[in-house]
Amino acid sequence: TPVPAFDLVIFGAGGDLALRKLFPALAQRSREGVLPDESRILCIVRKQEDVDGLPKQIAKRLKEEGLSPDHIHAFQQRLTIVLLDAVKPETYKALKKALGDDGRVRSFYLSTPPDLFIPICENLAAADILTPTSRVILEKPLGRDLASAREINDAVARILPEDRTYRIDHYLGKETVQNLLVLRFANTLFERSWTGRDIDHVQITVAETVGLESRAGYYDKAGQMRDMVQNHLMQLLTLFAIEPPNLLEAGAVRDEKIKVLKALRPIVGPDVERYTVRGQYGTGQIDGQRVRGYADELGHLSNTETFVALRCELDNWRWAGVPIYLRTGKRMAQRYSEIVVTFKPVPHSIFGGGSCDKLYANRLLIRLQPNDGVQLQLMMKVPGSGRLKIVPRQLDLRYSTAFDERTPDAYERLLTDVIRGDQTLFMHRDEVEQAWRWVDPIIAGWQDYSPHPHRYAAGSWGPSQAIGLIEREGRSWADPDFE
Ligand code: BG6
Repeated sequence: TPVPAFDLVIFGAGGDLALRKLFPALAQRSREGVLPDESRILCIVRKQEDVDGLPKQIAKRLKEEGLSPDHIHAFQQRLTIVLLDAVKPETYKALKKALGDDGRVRSFYLSTPPDLFIPICENLAAADILTPTSRVILEKPLGRDLASAREINDAVARILPEDRTYRIDHYLGKETVQNLLVLRFANTLFERSWTGRDIDHVQITVAETVGLESRAGYYDKAGQMRDMVQNHLMQLLTLFAIEPPNLLEAGAVRDEKIKVLKALRPIVGPDVERYTVRGQYGTGQIDGQRVRGYADELGHLSNTETFVALRCELDNWRWAGVPIYLRTGKRMAQRYSEIVVTFKPVPHSIFGGGSCDKLYANRLLIRLQPNDGVQLQLMMKVPGSGRLKIVPRQLDLRYSTAFDERTPDAYERLLTDVIRGDQTLFMHRDEVEQAWRWVDPIIAGWQDYSPHPHRYAAGSWGPSQAIGLIEREGRSWADPDFE
């Protein structure tokens, strides 16, 4: 579907996310001719100095992204800077005036802390800026627990219906995440064995090398559970585990996702200590460079976790008895995100007599980043007419070699989906609330069972307790050797 002419209003336009991701994504789409010429981007800034400063910052950022001066100039023609204070209703007049009154699609991207979501929606409504096709985009995390998420969802619902509310989780816009559905539902091979009958366990890792960066104010209040697990990891788990929707369509996909979230067995009380590990990085080395610990970066001691590992299970027909291990952390040894599916071993080995050390179970690696691709680990015979020798080898399919197409950034896809009105890759309020319903007791349990996160050295794979979590069940975290 072509993108219709639109006005996109970005609240928080001078913020980290807008500069790092939103403007580059929009500029790419603009360069590719996907955005109709008359479409505009209205950037909300709070300070007078940003009125002149922001276009310069955007130009600098786009240059870093490798856009040509002509493309940058053309993109800047779309920008209108609007001075407005999100919590001051009287300042919305400027926005109303800048928008004019033609009938094009209006989208409001709230790239702000969640406590501004309600005032912004209320002020947009009060200023009579919302048209019948207007939609709002809410950045994650939506609230900080079930109660605050509900409060936001209820308040937004009083102003805009669910089908015009887009809750973004940019992991859903990543090519490899979208490919998860294709891998499963366009290939008989995998779908047949995608159950606890054939699968021993699943691991989902999202490891980053970055630390606190400049986000202390937000991150220290959120922590890795709210920042990454409640949204990105749970979305990956959900897409991995869903039943086939009858159609690739928002309602059908989201209905199936909610069923998975509801099947997650709660982790409560003493199980929090048994099945979860929280950690915080201390000093260490990343890429040979010494880096400071979290508390040092922050400037004070803190009990916020920068690492979470946990073991969960889905109580449903397909997945009963299959452990799913999740782990995610900042300042880890390597930046890599991957889903590892370990199949059950063959029931009986016919290869005795030293032909191999061990028959390794088949593994399917779905690498999200970097070097995105899919790898299937198989046991193979080493060529030769002597003694039979069997070793593990890989079927290796990298995006970079399998396709010539550029891999777009997640936001490129998601932003145009909003304007087209496609909610398939956005979260329904029930999904967000169900995810909080599962996460809240874990965070509450930490107060009793793990008030102080375990220490791990920056540049490591997290606290030793995270290794114990999986090893005590006779399994181990996969090595990121898919390079
Ligand atoms: C964001 C988190 O949602 O995702 C960040 O707030 C994190 O803390 C980022 O660094 C990771 O995204 P990506 O696309 O780099 O994996």
